[in-house]
Amino acid sequence: MKHFLNTQDWSRPDIDALLRDAANFKRHKLGDALKGRSVALVFFNPSLRTRTSFELGTFQLGGHAVVLSPGKDAWPIEFDFGTVMDGEAEEHIAEVARVLGRYADLIGVRAFPKFVDWAQDREDRVLKGFAKYAGVPVINMETITHPCQELAHVLALQERFGTEDLRGKKYVLTWTYHPKALNTAVANSALTIATRMGMDVTLLCPTPDYVLDERYMGWAAQNVSENGGSLTVSHDIESAYTDADVVYAKSWGALPYFGRWQDEKPIRDQYKHFIVDEAKMALTREAAFSHCLPLRRNVKATDAVMDSPACIAIEEAENRLHVQKAIMAALIAQ
Ligand code: CP
Repeated sequence: MKHFLNTQDWSRPDIDALLRDAANFKRHKLGDALKGRSVALVFFNPSLRTRTSFELGTFQLGGHAVVLSPGKDAWPIEFDFGTVMDGEAEEHIAEVARVLGRYADLIGVRAFPKFVDWAQDREDRVLKGFAKYAGVPVINMETITHPCQELAHVLALQERFGTEDLRGKKYVLTWTYHPKALNTAVANSALTIATRMGMDVTLLCPTPDYVLDERYMGWAAQNVSENGGSLTVSHDIESAYTDADVVYAKSWGALPYFGRWQDEKPIRDQYKHFIVDEAKMALTREAAFSHCLPLRRNVKATDAVMDSPACIAIEEAENRLHVQKAIMAALIAQ
């Protein structure tokens, strides 16, 4: 049984098929791929786009979605084994996932890192726990990667450039400032899918401390060796932006400072000038700009960039609906 935990687990032909199915769902909104079926959407963190697009996408394919927030409207869950459960958690993932798998045909999971111990967070235990016990396909709705966002992003780029073939495009994933240390998931994902598509990828970040986890740097390097393209790490804003075709912005916390963010804050505060603005975009080849959203205007990108024709963030957000319908239809049909 196939899950959708990471795009890296899916073959390139399967990714391409999902993107084509998503484009088809964009043209023909309604379908019956989930007729009589149900989807459990488990959110450990807030969401606007993911929750709305999964709920509406399930409805548009004839299915029914149930949304649960453990610790809020559902019981808190224990993920460790051998624990004497005399704390907050009322039930164990082994029961939660099995029970939901008896009710629902698909399970979506959003579980961000706890931001205390990266060695533990990088195990992705919540997602893996659901996948292990559910007995039905599990979809990653953002944990330490965000694969649904990856497909929505690529579909938006294919639409902007009028081609499925993105090879030869200069793609810049730029770190931007944010007052808080954020999840690296979307950055991990952007690096993964941009290299998977064979683009010439530059990871622009303030210092080597902001380079991403070795697992995702390794996936990106593997993708370059298999698909062509290139991968460069840069700390030079001007050279990174020059002649770019795509600028994708995201903020994330520096992994060496994981769990001691008070030490990272004064470092991060020196790099507010990484904001995406008109001057930087003017260095590009009229690049498409995007961000996964939510985005703090005039912190990560200026009003002028967000409101410019270069910005495809709304198209990308819309595409979440279409790609997730393609993913759910593919998983249910297996
Ligand atoms: N991009 C994204 O996943 O948005 P939400 O956090 O609002 O779901």
